[in-house]
Amino acid sequence: MYQIIDGKATAATIRAEIAAEVAALISKGARKPHLAAVLVGTDGGSETYVANKIKACEDAGFSSTLLRFDEHLSEAELLATVQQLNADAEIDGFIVQLPLPKHINADRINEAIDPKKDVDGFHAVNIGRMVLNLPCYLPATPHGIVELLKRYNIETEGKHCVVLGRSNIVGSPVSILLARQANPGNCTVTLCHSRTKNLKEHLLQADIIVAALGKPEFVRADMVKPGAVVIDVGTTRVVDASRKSGFRLSGDVAFEEVAPKCSYITPVPGGVGPMTIAMLLKNTLHAAKKDFYG
Ligand code: GUN
Repeated sequence: MYQIIDGKATAATIRAEIAAEVAALISKGARKPHLAAVLVGTDGGSETYVANKIKACEDAGFSSTLLRFDEHLSEAELLATVQQLNADAEIDGFIVQLPLPKHINADRINEAIDPKKDVDGFHAVNIGRMVLNLPCYLPATPHGIVELLKRYNIETEGKHCVVLGRSNIVGSPVSILLARQANPGNCTVTLCHSRTKNLKEHLLQADIIVAALGKPEFVRADMVKPGAVVIDVGTTRVVDASRKSGFRLSGDVAFEEVAPKCSYITPVPGGVGPMTIAMLLKNTLHAAKKDFYG
């Protein structure tokens, strides 16, 4: 029988731990940790994600600031906003929600963020420090995956992990985290992507699969070794007329047929997704405490 990895419950536990630590800091005279979020345009998914991040801040006893701009904001204006946030001593950390409109170079924006305030962990300095196993802000979704493995006592050392997808936000960093000399970590990692040959053969070797492709129900039962741990990072909106919203979230794994083959599996929704926000709060608390950069 497989076990569901309950990301919603685990994230709630972590958020309660963070709220307790914030309350203790405030009782000692510290001010509230303060996260700012920048949202450009009206992408439906981004609106929901940012609203959830702001709500989570309030629930954990943080201050939060949402800076909203319409999709015509210029790159120069967004860079100026980033510089203001870098310089604002009242803001501990901030994020610029992705995707950005096409006329804005997201790399240029990312590189303008002060690494000390980069609570998304996307800046080259934080990525480099992650690779070197130095203290840094870890990207929230990969960090959330590692935290789930840890809290479910899933052995990773010496295991073969196959990661599907090489995005900067999930696939590449999770492949690094799981290969690091750490616990969880110490995996042998195979990173598969759109040019990989014999994908199924790779997947059938996996003790742990991390699916982060953004292709609904891509991973089928015949691609999974019996007893594998399956982590599904997919959150694609697919049309569903039976829902009030008109859509539902679909993972990268065909859950109904894959789950019976697994030892552990994350559902969508309620698996990795809720962990992303919990780890963003954790990074913001680290920022407020100046844990990594003095
Ligand atoms: N878009 C999708 N995931 C993320 C994330 O973790 N942070 C930001 N800033 N944008 C995203």
